[in-house]
Amino acid sequence: MCMISNEKAEGFLEVMKSRRSVRAYSGRMLDRDALMKLLDAAILAPTAMHEEPWAFSVIQDRDILKRISDLAKPIFFERLHRSGRAVDAGTDFEIFHGAGTLVVISSRHSGPFVDADCWLAAENLMLAACAWGIGSCVIGSSLAALEIPEVKSTIGIPPEYRPIAPIVLGYPEGETPATSRRPPHILSWI
Ligand SMILES: Cc1cc2nc3c(=O)[nH]c(=O)nc-3n(C[C@H](O)[C@H](O)[C@H](O)COP(=O)(O)O)c2cc1C
Repeated sequence: MCMISNEKAEGFLEVMKSRRSVRAYSGRMLDRDALMKLLDAAILAPTAMHEEPWAFSVIQDRDILKRISDLAKPIFFERLHRSGRAVDAGTDFEIFHGAGTLVVISSRHSGPFVDADCWLAAENLMLAACAWGIGSCVIGSSLAALEIPEVKSTIGIPPEYRPIAPIVLGYPEGETPATSRRPPHILSWI
């Protein structure tokens, strides 16, 4: 049972409303304590059959981030092109938006709910980040590069683990405007 005061509930909703996909970061690095708080929040997510299938890689090496970005861009744009989408991201576009920290949530488990568990952990992590003034953005476009065996090895993901949820983190530079949402599409209410 989740019992918190109305005031805290309002505060929690405020965090959800304030979360943005942040795409501009200051140079200030996240320290170990801040990151541990986020990982501790991530693992509070619900998990099917209490499997807790998630595992975390933290990458803060700028050279490695740049190398992954350089690898990811052509793969991602090729996929977009093949699916008929036009993208002009420019040549100096950096897939991680200049963030100093990438967290990759991976799993060695297989099963119908493993990805759901990892994405729920990702959302917990991003909401906790927002509550502490840390910006975040899911970088789905990096996933294909993160699956390359050499990349996995470079960032310490063992072969039997599958990267699922890549999230960048950092202190935001400037304001990120909110994006809009359509109202809930209610299919039935019986
Ligand atoms: C699975 C997934 C993959 C995403 N991949 C990217 C990405 O590769 N690059 C990026 O800048 N944003 C990415 N995003 C962020 C979305 O673009 C963003 O959530 C959406 O535009 C809504 O904006 P908001 O998060 O600020 O509300 C991704 C989001 C999700 C859920």
